[in-house]
Amino acid sequence: MDFTYTEENELIRQTAREFAKEKLAPGVAERDKNMIYPGEYLKELAELGFYGIFFPEEYGGAAMDSVSYCIAIEELSKVDASVGVIISVTNSLTAYPIFKFGNEEQKQKFLIPLCSGNKLGGFCLTEPGAGSDAGAQTTTAVLDGDHYIVNGAKHFVTSGKNGDMFVVTVVTDKSAGIKGTSSLIIEQGTPGMTPQPPEHKLGIRGTDTHAITFEDCRVPAANLLGKEGEGFKIALTALDSARMGVASQALGIAQASLDASLDYVHERQQFGKYLKSFQAIQFKLADMETRINAARLLLYQSALKKDSGQRYSKEAAMAKVYCSETAMWAATQAVQIFGGYGYTTEYPVERFMRDAKITEIYEGTSEIQRIVIAANLLGEWAKAHG
Ligand code: CAA
Repeated sequence: MDFTYTEENELIRQTAREFAKEKLAPGVAERDKNMIYPGEYLKELAELGFYGIFFPEEYGGAAMDSVSYCIAIEELSKVDASVGVIISVTNSLTAYPIFKFGNEEQKQKFLIPLCSGNKLGGFCLTEPGAGSDAGAQTTTAVLDGDHYIVNGAKHFVTSGKNGDMFVVTVVTDKSAGIKGTSSLIIEQGTPGMTPQPPEHKLGIRGTDTHAITFEDCRVPAANLLGKEGEGFKIALTALDSARMGVASQALGIAQASLDASLDYVHERQQFGKYLKSFQAIQFKLADMETRINAARLLLYQSALKKDSGQRYSKEAAMAKVYCSETAMWAATQAVQIFGGYGYTTEYPVERFMRDAKITEIYEGTSEIQRIVIAANLLGEWAKAHG
C-alpha cells in the first residue's frame, strides 16, 4: 500500500477545506438549528466539480481516484456533515449505478447533468416495511406499453424534495423475490410522485429527508436501469460505493471532534492548569488520534480496492462500521472533554454527537455491515477450503 497522497489528493483536500472554512462554517449552526437546506453552497460546489469526482471526463466527471472522493467528503463533513452526505448520495447512490448499469442514452441524459452538478440525485430503496430487510420490497412497477406504472411508498429519502432524479427499486415480478426487483430512474415532478413533509431529525438537519409516494406514476420504460430482475443487485452495488461515502462523512465528524478538543484543551483551565496537562485528557486525545487514523486507513483500503476493479463489499462495510462507530465514540469523548459546555450549543461538539449517530444507521446499520463482513469472510473461508 502506498501511503503518499498524490498531488490530486492534496488539491481536492485544499479546495474542500478552504470552501468548508470560508463558506460552510459561518452558517452551519444556524442551518442545523432551523433545518435550513444548504442549496446555495451546493451550487457553488457544483462549479468546483464536486459532483462527478470519480467519473470519466467524457461524462463531465473529474476522473479522480476514490481516495480523492473520500478526502472531499471528509473535509466537507468536518464542517457540515449535511453537505457531505448530499454530495455522497448524488455521487454514489445516483450517478454511480447509472454509470455502472445505464445505457449510453441514459448516461447522456442523466449522468452528465449529475456530474456537472446541474442536477441533484437521490435513492429510493427503504420502505415502511423494508429497512434492513431491503429485499422485502412492495413498490410495484407494471409495464403498460412504453411506460411503467409505479405504485408504492419509499421512506427516508435524502434530498427527497430538492433532488432532481432518483434511482428507485421497484418490484416488476412479485413471484420472483429479490430476482423480481428492478431499478428505475424517476425524475422529480413526474405526475403521481409526491414528496411528503420533511422528517424532523436528531442530526444532519441541513438535509431534506422525505418519504415519497408513487400513485399511478407513469415512468418511461426507457428509464429502466440494466435489465428487469437486476434491481437488488444494482441497489447493493450502489450501496457499496455509498458506504464509503458515509464512512468518509463519519471520519470527518470524528476528526472535527478531535480538532475541537485539541483547541479546547489549550483554552480551558481547571485546578490552575490547562486541560492539556491532565493525563486523563491526554489519554482520550491519544485514543481519538489512534482510532481515527485506523479508521482512515480502513477507508482508503476500500477506496484502493474499488479502484482496482475488484469487489470491495467487505472492505466498504468494514470502513463504514469502523468509521461510524469511531465518529460516535469520538464525538462522545469530545462532549466529555468539554464538560457542561459541550452539552450546550455554544460549542459544536453536541452537533457532532447528533450528526454522528445517523452514520451508524443509514446506508445499512452497523449490524447489517457486520452481516456483510461475516458473509464475505465465511465465503472466503469456504472458497479457500474447497
Ligand atoms: N453487490 C452486488 N451484488 C450483491 C451484493 C453487492 N454488494 N451483495 C449481494 N449481492 C447479490 C448476491 O450475489 C445475491 O445474488 P445471487 O443470488 O445472484 O447470488 C443477491 O444480491 C442477494 O444477496 P444476499 O443473499 O447476500 O442478500 P440478503 O438478502 O441475504 O442480504 C442484506 C442482503 C445485506 C441484508 C441487504 O438487504 C442489505 O444490505 N440491507 C441493508 C439495506 C440498506 O443498506 N439500506 C439503506 C438504504 S439507503 C439510505 O440509507 C437512504 C439515504 O438516502 C441515505
